[in-house]
Amino acid sequence: MYSFKELSQLFEEKFNIRHFPEYPHNLYNASQYILTLGGKRIRPVMCLMGNELFDNINPDAWHLANAIELFHNFTLIHDDIMDKAPLRRGMQTVHTKYGGPTALLAGDVMLVAAYDFINKINNDHIHQVLEIFNHTAMQVCEGQQLDMDFEQNENVSFDEYEKMIQLKTSVLLAASLQLGAVLGGAGVGNQQHLYGFGKNLGIAFQVQDDYLDAFGDPEKFGKKHGGDIIANKKTFLLIQAMHVSSKDQLIELHRLMRNNDDDKIQKVINIYKSCTVDEWAQELKQKYMAKAFEHLEEIAVLSARKKPLEQLAHYLLDREA
Ligand code: IPE
Ligand code: IPE
Ligand code: MG
Ligand code: MG
Ligand code: MG
Repeated sequence: MYSFKELSQLFEEKFNIRHFPEYPHNLYNASQYILTLGGKRIRPVMCLMGNELFDNINPDAWHLANAIELFHNFTLIHDDIMDKAPLRRGMQTVHTKYGGPTALLAGDVMLVAAYDFINKINNDHIHQVLEIFNHTAMQVCEGQQLDMDFEQNENVSFDEYEKMIQLKTSVLLAASLQLGAVLGGAGVGNQQHLYGFGKNLGIAFQVQDDYLDAFGDPEKFGKKHGGDIIANKKTFLLIQAMHVSSKDQLIELHRLMRNNDDDKIQKVINIYKSCTVDEWAQELKQKYMAKAFEHLEEIAVLSARKKPLEQLAHYLLDREA
């Protein structure tokens, strides 16, 4: 069996090719650009791990891993347009470098390239793979719409936030694991627990993403510091701050959401700190991690086979980028 680190390296070697034709340069260079900026490649590796939990890694799992990473990068290109984000992986976003219309197309063509990889799968499970993949893709779009809707809504509840991040982020992590497991011939019960593990891990992963936006080291994070604060994103940090802040702080938070003060980011972070929402976020992450591990426990394979998944979970929750 491969460790999480070994699988990440193996995937990176295979994925590190040009995925698109040369012409038209403006389109395909934009698509290729984001792929060459790297990223953690966790979703494809999760697909490979989900496969290896039950069997030796199947060639179809590699096709699917490629499809999943391309799909993820498609969502990032479009997400950066929606979020008006200038930086991704420490470099200019695709729409900043190539313009909005080309970025849209560069994302679209990447989604098609993802389906090309799925089309290479030579397996009895192809219908189930497509069903899970397509359902997940729709959920991601639903989550992204809610994320934008919530920018305009000052009273998003914690439950609404949790639902939104499940859709936009955690279902793809969960499905990546499940898809690998399907190809490995896993039974339904094991698939469900693996999905449950991925879903809770994915929620913790998005909580960490929200935390890093405000409290991460901008050098390591690779995205614009405080981008969520500028966009009035209803992150856990903001929802929790509105819940526990004093009356004056709450009035100030509402004022800051309506006006874009030059030092809005710092002012909001100061309120976060005084309400200790940074500590709350760490606790929340641990809560979802614990739920994830309960599901992992229930998967009926030798516990030694679960090691890479445990390594992944620890890596994700301590990550700084
Ligand atoms: C970023 O995902 C989008 C979120 C769901 C938070 P990653 O943090 O996995 O991005 P890369 O691929 O490693 O850059
Ligand atoms: C992105 O969430 C989720 C998807 C790309 C589907 P974010 O908007 O928080 O991700 P980052 O912070 O830009 O990577
Ligand atoms: Mg974003
Ligand atoms: Mg977003
Ligand atoms: Mg984010």
